[in-house]
Amino acid sequence: MTYDDLQDFISDRKKKNDFIQIDDEVSTELELTWILSEEERAGKGRTILFDNVKGYDIPVVGNIFSTQEKMNSILGDKPENIGNAMRNLIRPPKESESLIGRGMEMLKELGGLRPKLHDRLPSSYSVIDSVDLDRYPICTTWPDDAGPFITLPVVITSDPETGRKNAGMYRMQKYDSETMGMHWQIHKDGAKHFDEYKEKGKIMDVSVTLGTDPLTIFSAVAPLPDPLDEFSFWGLISKERPNLVKGQSVDHHYPMNSEIVLEGYIDSSESRIEGPFGDHTGYYSLQEVFPIFHIRKIVEKKNPVYPTTIVGKLWHEDVIMGKSIERLFLPLVKLQIPEIVDMNTMEEAVFHDMIVVSIKKRFPGHAKKVMFAVWGTGQLMFSKIVLIVDDDINVHDRKQVIWAMSTRIDPARDVIIIPGTHTDTLDHASSLLNYGSKMGIDATRKWKSEGFNRPWPETLSMKQDIQERVDQLRKKFTNQN
Ligand SMILES: Cc1cc2nc3c(=O)[nH]c(=O)nc-3n(C[C@H](O)[C@H](O)[C@H](O)COP(=O)(O)O)c2cc1C
Repeated sequence: MTYDDLQDFISDRKKKNDFIQIDDEVSTELELTWILSEEERAGKGRTILFDNVKGYDIPVVGNIFSTQEKMNSILGDKPENIGNAMRNLIRPPKESESLIGRGMEMLKELGGLRPKLHDRLPSSYSVIDSVDLDRYPICTTWPDDAGPFITLPVVITSDPETGRKNAGMYRMQKYDSETMGMHWQIHKDGAKHFDEYKEKGKIMDVSVTLGTDPLTIFSAVAPLPDPLDEFSFWGLISKERPNLVKGQSVDHHYPMNSEIVLEGYIDSSESRIEGPFGDHTGYYSLQEVFPIFHIRKIVEKKNPVYPTTIVGKLWHEDVIMGKSIERLFLPLVKLQIPEIVDMNTMEEAVFHDMIVVSIKKRFPGHAKKVMFAVWGTGQLMFSKIVLIVDDDINVHDRKQVIWAMSTRIDPARDVIIIPGTHTDTLDHASSLLNYGSKMGIDATRKWKSEGFNRPWPETLSMKQDIQERVDQLRKKFTNQN
């Protein structure tokens, strides 16, 4: 069970006192998103509705994902519980369990996997033929951004062969009142669909939904394996079937609860410079060439609300999204790489620039096996630096991580550099776009079977009985002045 739509989410936030309404006039030029940022920086991260946006009739909502409490409400549970439940889905029946019972349980869990497809829009929607993006309060976030960008879009495309849908979040630069840049990075599913249409020489239908229920927005960010589409993922989490409605001028269905839908197309023979844009990395991402999205029609709910977010230097709400993804997907990653005990995709390292993984080391060279597995698993492939530690290290404790990284390695032996690899598109430090290198650091204790012939020292810890005695004594001292 999740929110019906974005406005249902806003009503709930009002009830939960996680809400501010700003009636003062606020500009979409730098001001609005900076208010969101300052609210996040102050540690409260309340949801904000801007009701008086300078030059626009449509209100803007922000800080939808800015606290873990909100994220848990959107997911209906803690992300780790959802990940464990998904992991549990493919659990074989226990000896004590009946096969039918287990089968029924699985069917119940899978019930949301098939979306309900509708042919007609609800009466609360209107279809606008005279496209005019200038109606929408699209924000400019950073002073040197190339212009206004849609930052929370759910971009829907479909595979030209199978018709299978994809929903991804890719920022969109407003070029004029009818066209936008489509910043899907080369490794993402939208770009893969684009390549397939290009190969066939066909125009590609694309719809961009703005302000669906927040779980749909989160699903578009989630790094799903190709066979699982975002709407089935939504159904798995909410245990309900998502409602999708047929597009007016596009050949696919999209969520029936969107505030605004931009329906249009991309012609693979066209491209245009996109950016710069102040990005998750804390830098402006550089100008590059991306496809152009042309809008054919706009579908709009009566009295819509426009959603936005800000990304940039730490701390913004993408951290909550990223950490929730880490916790939700860890049990599933462990299915493929079972020796992983825990992992920390580090927000200071923009999630993909450094990941710390603890393992239960069982055989010589085990750390390297895990590094290569990480680079071969979904969007973990973007990890520029993979640091492997033993399972006595808490990967979320930076002090322990740095202690292990510095005291358990001999750099010439334990650091590997792999040249000529894919990189994240946002990595501006690699010499070429999308192409650079990886670093793996094996900070596990070294074994004789790995050619290490000195004794490995024990780590320091106090005897249990001494610890207990000192704890008792200290209780006495703490009551003294
Ligand atoms: C606020 C926000 C903005 C994002 N912008 C982009 C973007 O412009 N381009 C991109 O390729 N990925 C972007 N991402 C990451 C993708 O949404 C993410 O990798 C997602 O899994 C892609 O979906 P896909 O695997 O279906 O392509 C963004 C994520 C967030 C949270």
